[in-house]
Amino acid sequence: MASRVEIFEMGPRDGLQNEKRQIPTAEKIALVDCLSRAGFRRIEVASFVSPKWVPQMADSADVLAGICRHDGVHYAALTPNMRGFEGAVAAKADEIAIFGSASEGFSKANINATIAESFERFAPIVAAAKEIGLPVRGYVSCVTDCPYDGPTPPQAVAKVAQHLHEVGCYEVSLGDTIGQGTPETITAMLEAVLDHVPADRLAGHYHDTSGRALANIEASLDHGLRVFDAAVGGLGGCPYAPGAAGNVATEAVHGRLTTLGYSTGLDGDVLAQAADLARNMRSLPTL
Ligand code: HMG
Ligand code: MG
Repeated sequence: MASRVEIFEMGPRDGLQNEKRQIPTAEKIALVDCLSRAGFRRIEVASFVSPKWVPQMADSADVLAGICRHDGVHYAALTPNMRGFEGAVAAKADEIAIFGSASEGFSKANINATIAESFERFAPIVAAAKEIGLPVRGYVSCVTDCPYDGPTPPQAVAKVAQHLHEVGCYEVSLGDTIGQGTPETITAMLEAVLDHVPADRLAGHYHDTSGRALANIEASLDHGLRVFDAAVGGLGGCPYAPGAAGNVATEAVHGRLTTLGYSTGLDGDVLAQAADLARNMRSLPTL
């Protein structure tokens, strides 16, 4: 049997958080419902951040309320602070994610905190989640390059990843936020991180700005990673990373993994329908 690699679908969150058009909630719900039919086990659909910072995610509670939940699928939400955590719990997110950075410049720009301050903010969120048995995922941004500070030292990534792992994140997702990583810099970063966090607790989250995300996924497969974040239709970017393109397209990752002999468990036809929906959402003119 082909060995399994999981794609964690990011389109409704990482994708749509960066679309210029204010996308109607019903369109977001239709996209999530199509993705649920494609066979994903985890879909990030919401972000309980400040609407002043990311207005595109202001309807997150309505999205979680409106989707048709499939058994066995986790609908995930970003939570930057306790207020976000409370919003996610009230909206019945199945898991939450805290997000930090390996570089100080991006940490300040994205969450208005130093890395040390972000660790302090995460602690009560993780404790509260543990109390109610809610799984917590952790992100590290700028794992190879930062739009403000330049190249990121691999040891800086290892330090943040180790922290997230030790406080209890069930998985740490390594973000090439601006898509500048190469197989060489990804490899150097992974070698540092793997000294502290095992491969089965790591995921690759690669934006495709330079068209190297698939090559970076292959380099990561060589280091034992078996979970990759991707956004259907290549939706998105990051509002606090100027010039960043979307996550690598889910359908491209599915195609490459299948060619390499891995199984993703996804239905390629339904995935193609979701990719069409996503592309139509982004190609509509700005209102
Ligand atoms: P702040 O301005 O330092 O905090 O923002 P604050 O506590 O002073 O709050 C500012 C305002 O936001 C206040 O409103 C708060 O009430 C409100 P005001 O009093 O001015 O009217 N507020 C909230 N509202 C709703 N929900 C909340 C919330 N918290 C505060 N949870 C904060 C700090 C963290 C809130 C802000 O910086 C923020 O929301 N940042 C999020 C930025 C973001 O979402 N970035 C994109 C996601 S990360 C990403 O894409 C990277 C990733 O994909 C991995 C990768 O690719 O690298 C994960
Ligand atoms: Mg991202």
